[in-house]
Amino acid sequence: MSTDHNYVLGQSERAARRLELQDRHFAAPSEALLDALGIRPGDRVIELGCGPGGFTNRIARRLGTGGVVVAVDASAALLEQARATVAGAGPGRVEFVRADVSRPGAWLDGADVVLGRAVLHHVPMAEYLLGRLRATLRPGTRLGFLEPDFRRPLVRLAHAEATGRPELAPLLVFSKVINDLYAAWRISPAVGASLAPALEEAGYANVRHAWHPFATDESVIENMRMIYDEVRDTLVSLGVLSAAEIAEQQQLLAALRAGDLPPVWGLHQVTAVV
Ligand SMILES: C[S@@+](CC[C@H](N)C(=O)[O-])C[C@H]1O[C@@H](n2cnc3c(N)ncnc32)[C@H](O)[C@@H]1O
Repeated sequence: MSTDHNYVLGQSERAARRLELQDRHFAAPSEALLDALGIRPGDRVIELGCGPGGFTNRIARRLGTGGVVVAVDASAALLEQARATVAGAGPGRVEFVRADVSRPGAWLDGADVVLGRAVLHHVPMAEYLLGRLRATLRPGTRLGFLEPDFRRPLVRLAHAEATGRPELAPLLVFSKVINDLYAAWRISPAVGASLAPALEEAGYANVRHAWHPFATDESVIENMRMIYDEVRDTLVSLGVLSAAEIAEQQQLLAALRAGDLPPVWGLHQVTAVV
């Protein structure tokens, strides 16, 4: 990836605001991943796909003066947002690198920890990257990811919708739309679910997995409505939904009663050691 437009979702300020909202509902799993990785004050932490810097901030807060976060992203616009987000976050240094994370580079040198949140599913055939990372990183490097999954919760949603909860239909539509979008972009929507066995297969040690489903609350519904805004033109051009259908789905989502809804997505937390 060499240009900004290849990122399937947006890089605008509005997209960055949506990722800030997402950072809030990713808060508990994000801190759980950093706990599981045992971040130490002097670590050199490489963050793949930092976006506007919400997770970078959480990492920086855990480092001391000797620690460094190398925040890598392909989008110049999102790196600019990240610079503003992390200003004064902690005593550790934050360095920004514009690069395609699917091609391991010198920015990985000296890593103690390599991690990423909601990034691997944007990489085509992410398993290539995971195999190359194992060949590139020093033995003992800790690896950790949080990756979203819309498909595992779909089973429960589909059952509930078919047994007396027809109002859940827009949640099912949303899962399918996201999956269709990612499939059209040939990226890796299901990588979270297969990540732990894939890392074991590649010979990583101490592979651990945890599943964090989200309550479908107001902020999650708001995020879904904003995602429709962000990808409206793409969905229309791919023939996934028309503009009128998107508007209808946004209305149906807005009419849902938060507090009484099964999860529509969750995060897989996976850690391992090279
Ligand atoms: C869903 S956003 C997540 C951002 C951030 N990690 C967070 O959790 O807020 C995915 C990010 O990965 C970046 N990205 C996707 N594919 C990439 C690639 N091949 N190389 C570098 N960055 C990439 C995008 O630019 C975007 O910032």
